[in-house]
Amino acid sequence: MIVIGGSASTNLAKGIASELECEYIEAVTVRFPDGECYTRIDRETLEDDIVIIQNTYPDWNLVEMLLLEDVAKRLKAKSITLVIPYFGYARQDRVFKNGEPESAKVMCEILGLKADRVITVDLHKEDTLQAFKCKTKDVKAAEAIADYFREKGIDLVMSPDIGAAGRAKDVGTRLGVEYDHLNKTRLSGTEVQIKPANADCRGKNVLIVDDMIATGGTIIAANQQLKEAGAKSVSVACTHGVFVNNAIQRLMGSSLDGIFCCNTLENEVSKISVAKSIAKALRE
Ligand code: R5P
Repeated sequence: MIVIGGSASTNLAKGIASELECEYIEAVTVRFPDGECYTRIDRETLEDDIVIIQNTYPDWNLVEMLLLEDVAKRLKAKSITLVIPYFGYARQDRVFKNGEPESAKVMCEILGLKADRVITVDLHKEDTLQAFKCKTKDVKAAEAIADYFREKGIDLVMSPDIGAAGRAKDVGTRLGVEYDHLNKTRLSGTEVQIKPANADCRGKNVLIVDDMIATGGTIIAANQQLKEAGAKSVSVACTHGVFVNNAIQRLMGSSLDGIFCCNTLENEVSKISVAKSIAKALRE
């Protein structure tokens, strides 16, 4: 097996290659003066099982992934596995309003053209993978998150909504602590109440888990509610720290006690590595 790191995921790719104890090649990627992508793999052939690791967000990284797939095919790869740590467009997973595209499905269709297997990490909706015709697997970051927070005094794991309740259960069970989700109840046309569905937060060190932080709005609201419900401390661990605009500064300036994310996207708080979990999926 040979691991190829695209420019959006080089550190994670190196980590995965080191877990797998296999060869690592870094793609040579630059921009043409007009902004278009130029990429190259400095090898005569790639007659092996090839794993390309590259985020498909923002758009220019998607283009690089498509070009790297083409290189692997041309250099006679025995098989091509795409590891997409952060899958762009995952949230537009259905047509919400007539006239819109099914963006996540479109991405699967183009990315899957030359791939034999696709591995994602905490994809927004796992069902999206059904649009690929090849083998797929969505790696869960829960194990890496739980390992990171073991022995760190967490009493309660909470998801910001019922949709992510499974993630809180997974992390909570691994840590051997209570888990719950926040419930949103509409009180009137203008009033919404958000509170823990069952758990008593008083005096507890709470860890919020979510698949991603984009604007940070969800986490800021959840932190506020948990503090009002008596939590002693509130930290957050998300898989993908997208942090649009100044989200990271907003979160740091809030009363949150800790902000952590996985290294699917690299930034100053991406302290939790999913390299081991991805390597495990690649060995399967
Ligand atoms: C929602 O379904 C997701 O799981 C996240 O909670 C959401 O995308 C976070 O977005 P933001 O940080 O903009 O509130």
